[in-house]
This record gives sequence, structure tokens and C-alpha cells, in this order.
Amino acid sequence: MSNEPLQARHDSLLKDYQAIQSQGLNLDLTRGKPSTEQLNLSDALDGILQGSYQTRDGTDCRNYGGALGIPEARQFAADYLETRPEQVMVGGNSSLQLMYAYVMNAYYHGVRGAETAWIRERGEGRKIRFLCPSPGYDRHFTVCESLDIEMIPVAMTEAGPDMDEVESLVSSDPLIKGIWCVPKYSNPGGEVYSDEVVERMAKLGRIAGANFRIMWDNAYAAHHLCDQPPRLANLLTLSEQQGTLDNAVVIGSTSKITFAGSGISFLASSEANLKQFASQQTVSTIGPDKVNQLRHVKFLKDMPTLEALMQRHREILEPKFNAVIRELEQGLGDKQVNDQPLGRWTRPEGGYFVLFDTQPGLASRVVELTANAGVKLTPAGATWPYGKDPNNSNIRLAPSFPKVDDITQAMKVFVICVELATLEAALK
Ligand SMILES: Cc1ncc(COP(=O)(O)O)c(C=O)c1O
Repeated sequence: MSNEPLQARHDSLLKDYQAIQSQGLNLDLTRGKPSTEQLNLSDALDGILQGSYQTRDGTDCRNYGGALGIPEARQFAADYLETRPEQVMVGGNSSLQLMYAYVMNAYYHGVRGAETAWIRERGEGRKIRFLCPSPGYDRHFTVCESLDIEMIPVAMTEAGPDMDEVESLVSSDPLIKGIWCVPKYSNPGGEVYSDEVVERMAKLGRIAGANFRIMWDNAYAAHHLCDQPPRLANLLTLSEQQGTLDNAVVIGSTSKITFAGSGISFLASSEANLKQFASQQTVSTIGPDKVNQLRHVKFLKDMPTLEALMQRHREILEPKFNAVIRELEQGLGDKQVNDQPLGRWTRPEGGYFVLFDTQPGLASRVVELTANAGVKLTPAGATWPYGKDPNNSNIRLAPSFPKVDDITQAMKVFVICVELATLEAALK
């Protein structure tokens, strides 16, 4: 078949692209951080204590101590993560820091004393390994890389990780010590794990090697973009029923509820795990920021108050996600090259991302083209272990921070770049 129609389409698009380049745009869809308008929703945190620093058990929050967090914050976190206060600890401003500390301590110091340290099982050609449902959250992967934990990508389905693959790997390799999960509105694909997936997760501890941990990062538990949010089965309850509670480590934070840089973080697991981890934490801190914990409990109060706040977040975020989807539909909707659509994309019911899939092999070229036109995107491959997307097709779009007009403009550039990259490849 002659390439002429494709060539003509390419040449005309290239002119559009060059015209955009001359506009000197400077737009950014890279990181999923809340916008200033969202942060403003929690400004009442400032000054809310009005000089009253005592917790309900009489602790002065300004002083040292309280490795597990203050009682009212533990109660709040338990309600949020659907568990009991004895099974939750409340930390500082970053759940990522808690996750890193947990994995690092398990690796070097053990989940039950030094003899259980993962590093003891390392040897010549024997690295500690983690399963990484992919695409996934790049900073989880950085935690593994920083500890030289080998990452094994596992396929994601619409219902969560491919559990046949997970079970077969976990049961055949005792050096696999963990799996990273973002079970609700997953980063970046937006998947919500099905009941069956969560039930099978809860059984993993029975077939895994010693001291295996499911790092269950429920970062987007309350971050809905729809009227009837899907329900996530409760890993802690199911694990308790299976006798595998030690294997479950559930994490969350208020980073995208109040202030991303000054929120509070949660870690829920068995009481024995909390005891061990809290004692390890006290090596590096004589206690978390309890004043901030108290401020948060005073401000967020209870689940209905939190849900009302999340509704206001949704009102700000939804038009931004709608702008992304609208531009993708208008710009690429029914277009094809070589009888193939130009891409596929998610329509998330919550969370912070839209995941776009180019035709195979084109993601890095699309990101390069958009960058040269003044639109920054997350680097292609960033959502895969070692930055290596085997199909070079995933692109994570993060529309939370920019204004709707900027998102619209950035997406108009994006769709042109997708089409241009697809035509370039087809003409080679
Ligand atoms: C899945 C996931 N977990 C954790 C974080 C970071 O959370 P925190 O601010 O509590 O460290 C993010 C931020 O983008 C995230 O997407």
C-alpha cells in the first residue's frame, strides 16, 4: 500500500507541531500533587489547637515520645483503614517514609529480631526479591532499588495483579519477601482490586517463604471521582481470618486529604509487627510530630467530615480529569493508523492519574515530542521497575496540579504528538 495518505497526514501535522513549538509553552503534567486550591481547603489546620496541646490521655503533644501515635489519631486512622486502633500506628508527614523504613528495617534488622533479617538469606547469586505489579508507583520501585532488592514485574489486570502469576512465583521462591500493591485507584492504572484478588492476597502468607510482607499502600482509599465508589475488600480482616495478619502491612496518609507536605501517615498490621517496627523507628526518632496528629484529628474529626472534604477535592479535580478525557476523545477518539487505534486510556473512578497506552514502542518518542513542544510528562518507563517498560507504551498523565485551561492546552499538544509519533513509526 502506498504511504501517501499517511505521508500527507504526517506533513500537515508536523506543521501544526512546529507552530506549537514556536509558542514557547511551559506546561507540566508530571507529578500527582494536589493543587493550591485543594491545599486551601485545609487551611483551618493552622491555629486550630489554640494553645491546647493535651491528648485525651493527658499527654502533652509538644514533648518527646509516643512512637505509635496519639490515641485519638490511632482511633481516627483505624476508622479510615477499617481496623482497630491497636492495629494502627500513626507517623509523620509521609507514608513513603514509613514504607521505606519498614522495608529497610525488615531487610537489615528483621521483622522479629536480627535472625529474621531478609539480608541473612542473601548470598552469591541470591538476591532478595519483591513482586512489582506493573505499571506501578515509581517510588515503591526506588525503595527496592536503593536496597538492591531485585524487582520482578507482575502483570496487572483490570481486577488487580495477575494472581495466578503472583501465587506461582511466591510459592516457588522463598527469596521473594514482598509485593507492592496500590489496591484502590491504583497508581497509575486506576484499578480497584476485586474481592477475589484481595482474598487470594490474604492467603499468600501461607504459601510464601519466611517473613513475607504485602505492602498494601492504600494511598487513595477515599479519593473518589464517581458517585458510587467501588468497595475494596478488607485485607486486614481477611488476613486475620487466614492467620496471616503478620504478612499484611497496610499504609495510608492524609497527603492528598489535607497538606501533601504536612499531613500524617498510618501503618496498620498485627500488634506484634507494630511493636517491632515502633521499636526500630525509635532508633531514628524519639517520636512522631504529635502536634500535627492532634491538629489533624481536630480538623478531620470523623469519617463523615473527611468524606465531605473529599467531596470538595473531587469538585476541584473532576473538571481536570474531564478535560484530559475530553481532549483524548476529541483528538484521538476514532483515528487509526494501520487499522489500529492511536492509543488506549483509562477513565479512572478515583485517584490521581490517567494511564495512556500508545501503540507498542512509541511512549518515549511521544514524551520526547511533547517535551520539545513545552509540555513535560512523566518519563516513559518510569512506572516500571528499573524504568523499563517492555512495550514502551505506558504514559502516566497527572492532571491534579495545573489549571483546567493549561491541562486542555497540554492535552491538545499531547494528542498531536501521539499522532505524529504513530505516523512517523508507520512511515519508517
Ligand atoms: C501510591 C502512592 N503511595 C504513596 C504516595 C506518597 O505518599 P506520602 O505523601 O504519604 O508519602 C503517593 C504519592 O504520589 C502515591 O501515589
